Amino acid sequence: MKSILVTGGAGFIGSHTVVELHHAGYLPIIIDDFSNSHPKVLEGIEEIIGQAPIFYEGDCKNPIFLRSVLDQHPELEGCIHFAAFKAVGESVENPLKYYHNNIGSLANILSEMNRKEIHQLVFSSSCTVYGQPTKLPVEEGANIHSANSPYGYTKQVCEQMIRDLQSSGTPISSVILRYFNPIGAHSSGKIGELPLGTPDNLVPFITQSAAGIRGGLTIFGSDYSTPDGTCIRDYIHVVDLAKAHVSALKWTSKNPSKCEAFNIGTGEGKSVREVIDTFQKVNGIELNVKLGERRLGDVEQIYASGEKARQVLNWEPELSLADALADAWCWQQNLSLQE
Ligand code: UD1
Repeated sequence: MKSILVTGGAGFIGSHTVVELHHAGYLPIIIDDFSNSHPKVLEGIEEIIGQAPIFYEGDCKNPIFLRSVLDQHPELEGCIHFAAFKAVGESVENPLKYYHNNIGSLANILSEMNRKEIHQLVFSSSCTVYGQPTKLPVEEGANIHSANSPYGYTKQVCEQMIRDLQSSGTPISSVILRYFNPIGAHSSGKIGELPLGTPDNLVPFITQSAAGIRGGLTIFGSDYSTPDGTCIRDYIHVVDLAKAHVSALKWTSKNPSKCEAFNIGTGEGKSVREVIDTFQKVNGIELNVKLGERRLGDVEQIYASGEKARQVLNWEPELSLADALADAWCWQQNLSLQE
């Protein structure tokens, strides 16, 4: 059984990936500092996989901590690095927090992987690296525009750091996954998204509005040049996204000293209005929706070309937007019951 380090393994995407790694026969070893997650996620993972995951609480910015975990697991063969901050607005207000954490942590991880001769890496990147693409669906070879936020810039720098290391002759095989909009939850309802405070993202805002935690839902802008005037994104079910990490890991084991970036989306753009309508229809709930101003920094539309991931990683999404919105609502209801 191959052991894989999963930094940020208690987070939204990390926890679902831990479950899929387990199902695929890997042994995930989790690091998380709970800065944007909660210890009860580990209980949810345990309920799904039937055993407590191996877990270390700590911060990847701390090289001594990281070193001690890796020294305890000489059997580690790869790393999936999620641990990073991701709030665009906060990164504008507090850029150093993002530079220290997102860039510092990856530098530490790469140094430690090098020291321990661990050669397989899957890195969590974002479609934010493209900005507003000139051609849709966006392909991996599209121009990388200057970033709209310090958060976006950290993802660009991290991607470059991995490429530079690989070009230097270090025997690392890496996959950069550029996520589009991950939504949904595990179908068991035992793990899902746990936003701290007021959510920034659309789907947690919808589920919290449906649960009565938030008053109404505001659509940020209805005068875009799109068929219904609202922004278009590519919403990918988090379980499909988690499975993409398993496919990526397999690719790294067969392609030594290579580095490739892949879009992970559905290939289909859905508008904010369509997401809201689908949520209402699939869950039989009426939301209190109003139209508001555009949100600063939003791109009008972006959706992925999934061709490269399908051909090279042999991965494609299996779940629909309706599946994701039903699972997100089931998760929200379970959360509300626990509170
Ligand atoms: C955002 C980030 C992206 C990051 C991702 C992490 C920005 C500009 N982009 O993506 O870099 O990788 O989160 O998950 O912040 N919306 C509403 N009402 C709401 C909330 C959102 O209408 O209450 C709209 C937004 O304007 C947008 C769409 O819903 O058009 C999706 O928004 P969101 O879920 O925040 O994701 P992104 O902005 O695409």
